[in-house]
Amino acid sequence: MTHNVELRDRLLRQKDGYSLEQAFYTSESILEADLESFFYQDWLFMIPACEISKSGDYVTQKVGQYDIVIVRGDDGIIRALHNSCRHRGSRLCSAQKGSAPKLVCPYHQWTYELDGKLLYARDMGDDFKPEQHSLKAVHCREIAGLVFICLANIAPDFSELEGHLANYLGPHKLGNAKVAHSSTIVENGNWKLVFENNRECYHCSGSHPALCRTFPDAPAFTAVTSAGFPQDVKDHWKKCEAIDLPSKYVIDPGSYWRLARVPLIGEAESFTMSGKTAVSRLMGDISVKAAGSLLLFSYPNSWNHFLSDHAIVFQVMPINAVQTQVTTKWLVHKDAVEGRDYDLETLTHVWKNTNDEDRRVVEENQIGVNSPAYEPGPYSPIHESGVLQFVEWYKATLLSRLEGSSLMQAAE
Ligand code: FES
Ligand SMILES: [Fe+2]
Repeated sequence: MTHNVELRDRLLRQKDGYSLEQAFYTSESILEADLESFFYQDWLFMIPACEISKSGDYVTQKVGQYDIVIVRGDDGIIRALHNSCRHRGSRLCSAQKGSAPKLVCPYHQWTYELDGKLLYARDMGDDFKPEQHSLKAVHCREIAGLVFICLANIAPDFSELEGHLANYLGPHKLGNAKVAHSSTIVENGNWKLVFENNRECYHCSGSHPALCRTFPDAPAFTAVTSAGFPQDVKDHWKKCEAIDLPSKYVIDPGSYWRLARVPLIGEAESFTMSGKTAVSRLMGDISVKAAGSLLLFSYPNSWNHFLSDHAIVFQVMPINAVQTQVTTKWLVHKDAVEGRDYDLETLTHVWKNTNDEDRRVVEENQIGVNSPAYEPGPYSPIHESGVLQFVEWYKATLLSRLEGSSLMQAAE
């Protein structure tokens, strides 16, 4: 209780327009509050659905203290289950990914169907009721080829984002894609520093020589209103919408997500060093190479780029107060063949470098913030309105959830 009252008071004294006080980037107890308030409450992006394309395919994922298995059932439906056996709690699946006809606990071989129902438990006596020992389910939705989960008992309304995602992502046909490459890195920085860095391109010209060949560092691209979008972006929206590519800027009233399709620099078609597409086979129904990048962020754990020839999806997961895991996946049409339709190095070069450059700036940011001399500094109203929006969302949401009874009581 005391801790949460302290945190609420701390939130209330944060100066508008400034970065947060040191503790928000360094304290394990505030990270705990972040997990409780966001990662255990909100919809989280997990994987592209094409990663588990056959029944029995699964991936496992840690979210704070939770361990989750996401599995495609015999009925083709993707479900999320707690990766904890209903016998004595052993983790069922220890691999990061795999494929299995049933989920068998390695400890005493209790065996579950892919939908979590307990099928077999040896010698448990006459009174044992298998139907009371199914694996616990986690809210799970597959939307336009992206899989989201929510750990809360009652999941927040997701219908508005679902509708927009179906509309904006529909033409990209992510269900018809495959993962061409996946990378997981650990950044030695708090998850909010990772996200703040993503929500501005003030740093791009100084840090991202490869990305800056094709991606403009225009402040409007990370901004939070459509007002600042220049005419050429609006012209791009018009052109794309004329060929059935929904493109206009749209943002959640609660600030959780934003979608907008933005043009790349000049004639550029994709995030490559040449600016040309990396994959000769375009994705889905997209017929124009220079369709730009459809940007999607969804707080608290994802940002994404959807291009004409590939898509890049990002997942952010805190490990502790000063370490964050960032997983990037490059998606291409499922029939695109490496070596014939694309070269993996050409496809991944820009974002592998960009991720590493971002890792370095985030780590330097964390080291500087750790210093007793650190004090919150002002965000640029021109270039960092996206960061400001993220921080305002963070403060307002955390405050409202702390003031909602559950967290205040949970800590008593
Ligand atoms: S803990 Fe899983 S079968 Fe015993
Ligand atoms: Fe960056």
